[in-house]
Amino acid sequence: MKNSYLIIAFALILGACKSETKSDATITKDMSDKEKQEVNVYTHRHYEVDQMLFAKFEKQTGIKVNVVNAKADELMQKMTLEGAQSPADVLITVDAGRLVRAKDKDLLQSVTSQILNDNIPSHLRDEDNQWFALTKRARVIAYDKERTQPQQLSTYEDLTLPKWHNKILVRSSGNIYNQSLMASIISHKGKDDAKKWASGIVENMARTPQGNDRDQLKALVVGEGDVAIVNTYYIGKMLNSKDSQEVKVGERIGVFFPNQDGRGAHINISGAGVAKYAPNKANAIQFIEYLASEDAQRVFATANYEYPVNPNVKPSELLQSWGAFKEDVLPLSKLGENNKKAVIVFDEAGWK
Ligand code: FE2
Repeated sequence: MKNSYLIIAFALILGACKSETKSDATITKDMSDKEKQEVNVYTHRHYEVDQMLFAKFEKQTGIKVNVVNAKADELMQKMTLEGAQSPADVLITVDAGRLVRAKDKDLLQSVTSQILNDNIPSHLRDEDNQWFALTKRARVIAYDKERTQPQQLSTYEDLTLPKWHNKILVRSSGNIYNQSLMASIISHKGKDDAKKWASGIVENMARTPQGNDRDQLKALVVGEGDVAIVNTYYIGKMLNSKDSQEVKVGERIGVFFPNQDGRGAHINISGAGVAKYAPNKANAIQFIEYLASEDAQRVFATANYEYPVNPNVKPSELLQSWGAFKEDVLPLSKLGENNKKAVIVFDEAGWK
């Protein structure tokens, strides 16, 4: 009798252990189910194409994409304030300088993904795999095809020569695209030469910097200057604008890729990183892998006049019509590292 009590007691203990194990497994399953359901994306990009790609990803994976849209600095501040409680899984921003800033602020984490390594060339991702480029753009010299011949153009440095006096249109130095271009020049040639370049451009400016890249193109075709330093995708946007005046401007613009016999044209990116406290880390990696896939890269390439980063995907027809070009393969992390120096050089050179 005593023995049978013991057996019953032992059986009860075993049962309890078993049910405890079962509930642990259930909790783990619940957690993985939860992780499978969503990815929270903080993004600075505000393009329709992104919404389209997010919807495709949702359909393929069943993972819901929750989007928070704001300017990069606001998103980074939000992540800083939220700290370890942040729901952010992925941060998407425009310009490598900003991605480096996010890394410096300890808002991202390193991830291991063979798919990302295979799909994104090494100069277009962070050396610690904290961020990855998704699209690429070049900062080129635009000219009015009716007044300037491409043979007159050569390098960024050439624009400092007296022949371009009062002829250069470019936006202010407060803009990160110019800061990144300057950071690349500092990386290649040192601070002193970079300052000489900036002073030379200031000397040759057609007007005090004002407006955005589109405004430089508009000023170009009304003859305010002869060349403009702009990002490639703005020319695509103007050619495909709903505003017929913008289309007319776009049609007169020629695209010149500078420094083709040297380091190549300066490029920049938009890109993504996994947030440091990502509650859905696996989903976040899967999401970025999807955006770097040939499928998604083809969509990026056709919709926003940017270059795909995946070497297996061709640029759109319009971009192909501008010709293949040699790009500067400086690791883009340098753009962030030299950002502060770039701001100082601009200031010293009097670039408003
Ligand atoms: Fe832009």
